[in-house]
Amino acid sequence: MNYDISEGEAGLPDEPEMLRGIAVRLKSFNNDRGSLIPILQDIQDKFLYLSPGALVMVAEHLGIAPSEVYGVATFYNQFRFHPPGRHPVKVCLGTACHVRGGDIILENFERKLGISDGGTTPDREFSIERVACVGCCALAPVAVVDESIQGHMAPSKVEGIILGFQIERDKLDRERQKK
Ligand code: FES
Repeated sequence: MNYDISEGEAGLPDEPEMLRGIAVRLKSFNNDRGSLIPILQDIQDKFLYLSPGALVMVAEHLGIAPSEVYGVATFYNQFRFHPPGRHPVKVCLGTACHVRGGDIILENFERKLGISDGGTTPDREFSIERVACVGCCALAPVAVVDESIQGHMAPSKVEGIILGFQIERDKLDRERQKK
């Protein structure tokens, strides 16, 4: 993914910047209902999520109610409504992972991070989403953290992964303070 507008603190554009970018992109779409899904896909592809302001802009462009745009967007689980974290966590709930306790792994990540499936921590460090089979069922249950496959997941590994990132962040903070 790349941006042609300036990025905010967390590596994503600030919402006003994002909305300006969306306004430009909307010009290339017809204002009929058939454009709704392609527009939402385009925005998410470019900006990684659909903000409330983005949904309102899409509604205005198409001349329909924001609630209708929201209703369609939430019908498809391909769309996300929170910015992704710096460390995206994807928990596989495909059949093989599900029967080996993938849902318990998801619950553990949710509890440890204090967010639900589809959410992002307030500091934007982590986001969680459930995904379908990621193609390595022999390692079930599987999570993908920062694009790295974590096989044979267990609750203790969930804790270890999060702790590893926290230690790394503390180390970076200390190094920054020394400068
Ligand atoms: S079902 Fe999880 S990797 Fe295939």
